Amino acid sequence: MNAPGRTRLNQTPEWTALGKHREQLGQTHLRELFAADAARGSEYTLRVGDLHLDYSKHLVTPETLRLLRELARAADVTGLRDAMFQGEKINITEDRAVLHTALRAPRDAVVEVDGENVVPLVHQVLDRMAAFAEKVRTGEWTGHTGRPIRNVVNIGIGGSDLGPAMAYEALRSFTTRDLTIRFVSNVDGADLHEAVRDLDAAETLFIVASKTFTTIETITNATSARDWLLGELKTGQEAVARHFVALSTNAEKVGDFGIDTANMFEFWDWVGGRYSVDSAIGLSLMIAIGPEHFRELLHGFHLVDEHFRTAPAEANAPLLLGLLGVWYGGFFDAQSHAVLPYSHYLSRFTAYLQQLDMESNGKSVDREGQRVDWQTGPVVWGTPGTNGQHAYYQLIHQGTKVIPADFIGFARPVADLPPALAAQHDLLMANFFAQTQALAFGKTAEEVRAEGVPERLVPHRTFLGNHPTTTVLADELTPSVLGQLIALYEHKVFVQGAIWNIDSFDQWGVELGKVLAKEIAPALTATADSGGDVEDSGGDVERSGGDVED
Ligand code: F6P
Repeated sequence: MNAPGRTRLNQTPEWTALGKHREQLGQTHLRELFAADAARGSEYTLRVGDLHLDYSKHLVTPETLRLLRELARAADVTGLRDAMFQGEKINITEDRAVLHTALRAPRDAVVEVDGENVVPLVHQVLDRMAAFAEKVRTGEWTGHTGRPIRNVVNIGIGGSDLGPAMAYEALRSFTTRDLTIRFVSNVDGADLHEAVRDLDAAETLFIVASKTFTTIETITNATSARDWLLGELKTGQEAVARHFVALSTNAEKVGDFGIDTANMFEFWDWVGGRYSVDSAIGLSLMIAIGPEHFRELLHGFHLVDEHFRTAPAEANAPLLLGLLGVWYGGFFDAQSHAVLPYSHYLSRFTAYLQQLDMESNGKSVDREGQRVDWQTGPVVWGTPGTNGQHAYYQLIHQGTKVIPADFIGFARPVADLPPALAAQHDLLMANFFAQTQALAFGKTAEEVRAEGVPERLVPHRTFLGNHPTTTVLADELTPSVLGQLIALYEHKVFVQGAIWNIDSFDQWGVELGKVLAKEIAPALTATADSGGDVEDSGGDVERSGGDVED
């Protein structure tokens, strides 16, 4: 893993071979690649669980894929993968195991951290969560005044918000529609205000989600929520126990906040915040969709974990997706990666992936502590389907940038859509297929002329095409399929981090801003109190090493 003396990535023979291959490939067009191989559209596909991946519209040949797999072999991706699954401390800067895969391991699995099997702990917490979720869903859990809970507000940020918020949107059609579920993350007081202003405090449960329970945004919002609740109920601290539960690794801080640790759902330091949606952090989601659907979600994750762990390199989907990203970043100077779901329910999916990918692989120092001189994680961006087509797709089609894109779609709409609205699904998917086709093959000047377009407009109406895309298709967006999708991206990010030789599991880059904000905040409050202007002191701010807060 941490291998001093390891050859720098861009000095390996495998990297050099890829560079030469890239030169030979030159401007080869996807039109030529398809023309040369009639079976390309069906051969360049993979099946993982319920996911069908089509990677035929990538700028790769069998030789490219072979060379990329050689690169993965030289980087010992499988060695690092096995070390992760076995609970070794592959997060070297924090000396931690990286075991989100244990969160979805079946009950009888054995995964050891420091000699302790953690799977029973995982299932104990899942069982407690399920019992609690059922109590809330059935109305058995009552608030301080004896009324059943009808509103659930998750307060958290980053991984303690994005996962459950994204998955709640994704699985809305599986949620009990008689509960109101909201998510508050922003320290801008407007977020909490808008979340609670129409709620009845007597029927509202706050879930304070924070791995560390020290994150200032979350603790500030949780404190304000507690003040709101006690003010609305006109009661003292005794109401907190029925209206606040905590999701955390830090029992001491939870207790300090005034939440009974009997109402704390635990997870562990080997779960990274951005990998925590399937831990206790998923409680709000479990309340919304019910424990059974939550278990189906975990099953979907596990299915892809097993695929990643056991599938041969040629058929290993996360490996393939990871390698394609390395190819474009390293040899096409691609700076970003678009994720474009053709599902309204996946409206938060790309935002979720932004943290997963960019917090993991937004690094510029390798595992040996040296600055890298190769591209690492891309800027990840995108919004759902046809909305993007009428906004930024123009740039993907005719701009000057290389932007590999993932198109995610479903054969069927979700089951509970009324028939008249379900009928719109065909139009949605027609757009889905049209876009990947247009991006790959474009429209030549000859084709444009043949349509009678005046010569002066021909260059403007010509599409070069050759824009690489992956198509990810499933029959329907179910809890299991969502778990499969998330795990696919988790492991893709892992593969890339392994090849780039960076620690994908720390996030020191967010610490400096946190430290500075804590130092600046009292000055702003004092200035506001005295009615004065905010001045830039220009002074040096001590750069304390700050505690790691994830
Ligand atoms: O600031 C980054 C971060 O540490 C994320 O990695 C994490 O998901 C988020 O803050 C929230 O942290 P916590 O769950 O400890 O409140």
